[in-house]
Amino acid sequence: MIILKNDNEIGMMKISGKVTGSILYELRTVIKPGISTADINRYVEERICSEGMIPSFKGYNGYPAGACVSVNYEIVHGIPDEGRILQEGDIVSVDIGATYKGWVSDAARTYPVGTVSEKAGHIIEVCRDSFFGCLRYCTEGCRLSDIGNAVQRKAESEGYSVVRDFVGHGIGRDMHEDPQVKNYGAPGKGPRLLKGMVLAIEPMINEGGHETEVLANNWTAVTIDRKLSAHYENTVVITEGAPEVITLDERDERGA
Ligand code: MF3
Ligand code: CO
Repeated sequence: MIILKNDNEIGMMKISGKVTGSILYELRTVIKPGISTADINRYVEERICSEGMIPSFKGYNGYPAGACVSVNYEIVHGIPDEGRILQEGDIVSVDIGATYKGWVSDAARTYPVGTVSEKAGHIIEVCRDSFFGCLRYCTEGCRLSDIGNAVQRKAESEGYSVVRDFVGHGIGRDMHEDPQVKNYGAPGKGPRLLKGMVLAIEPMINEGGHETEVLANNWTAVTIDRKLSAHYENTVVITEGAPEVITLDERDERGA
């Protein structure tokens, strides 16, 4: 069942989303060669708590941190680690969530570490573009699968594959609500979008094949072929007109 949110509820999600978006923007200058993935997590947890909010991921199904930090061929759910030091040329995906008065926001970006190769920069850019390209289908009357179809068309037109094993989701009082938001598939299927739906839309695209596996820590999802992966996510409010992207910092119209 898809839970619609009223204006008051959306107002609280926007307060949460503003903090999430702002932290992800700040990370652009925090992330550099020599820091660990645990340093990134510490920054995120401290900032969420300094706003009087709760890191939504911590303790979720036993997840041990406030951020997921996934490097290079890691797709999502990388566990922060003091010993995992970022190197010049890496790409790192950071996924965070904040809970304000019980309302959750969820967003992710992939960042270059120092100067990266053209191919690494390109997958980051295409992943972000695939998100912004799907927004024209995020309006009342479109169908759910129009979103994933738009993401897939963009990613595949640039030679990337789309991850199937992880999907976006409805979001509200729970981080994961109905519906599942696939990043692939035929258009024109699934429920019609309605004002008051709130979706976490999160393309995950791979340089090689779409196949994934989960490492022995039971969390970290990686590409089977160990080629690069990028992730870009925002919490999006559906309206009768243009969608509201509530986790995008105003200092960066197109996101970090
Ligand atoms: N942000 C992730 C998602 O979009 C959730 C993180 S899973 C957690 O589904 F366990 F780390 F919380
Ligand atoms: Co999500």
